[in-house]
Amino acid sequence: MKEFFLFLHVVLATFWVGGMIFLSLVVVPYLKNKPEIRNEAFQEVGKRFSLYGTFISLFLLLITGLVNTYLLHGGFRRSIYEKLFLFFIVVAISLAHDLWAGKKALYSEYHRKWAKWLGIANLIISLMLVYMGVRIRLGL
Ligand code: HEM
Repeated sequence: MKEFFLFLHVVLATFWVGGMIFLSLVVVPYLKNKPEIRNEAFQEVGKRFSLYGTFISLFLLLITGLVNTYLLHGGFRRSIYEKLFLFFIVVAISLAHDLWAGKKALYSEYHRKWAKWLGIANLIISLMLVYMGVRIRLGL
């Protein structure tokens, strides 16, 4: 049971963080010089990653994270509260990115810039969450 929930949590974290790295290092540079398909592709890829990433994997990361908290640590401790706090910042940034900036980016340079910087902030904070997971694992 313990290993199953930790496994699930790590797979979801891999999808979430790996998906963002894939988007920024593979998809974005590929579409950069393709004005004919760029806007449509960004919207389509964004919509799918929003569904599987923001709405499904973040939700399941919360559930599996809470289960890990109880199964592996018997409850909350300071470092887990800090992780939870940062997690809700990621949720807020993701919602602003997907439902506001990303949607309007098609017609507005201003929103496109917001979408880019919110995406970068999300990747950095999500990497911090992985680091915090490792610290919790090590009992720090
Ligand atoms: C974007 C969100 C998250 C990411 C990317 C993430 C990432 C990770 C990773 C990679 C690990 C494995 C660390 C290791 O085994 O060395 C981990 C473990 C863990 N995470 Fe998360 N996590 C997220 C959200 C959460 C949330 C919301 C909670 C709940 C408060 C949580 C609680 C835990 C706990 C308790 C562990 C187990 C530590 C241990 O093995 O002792 N995580 N996390």
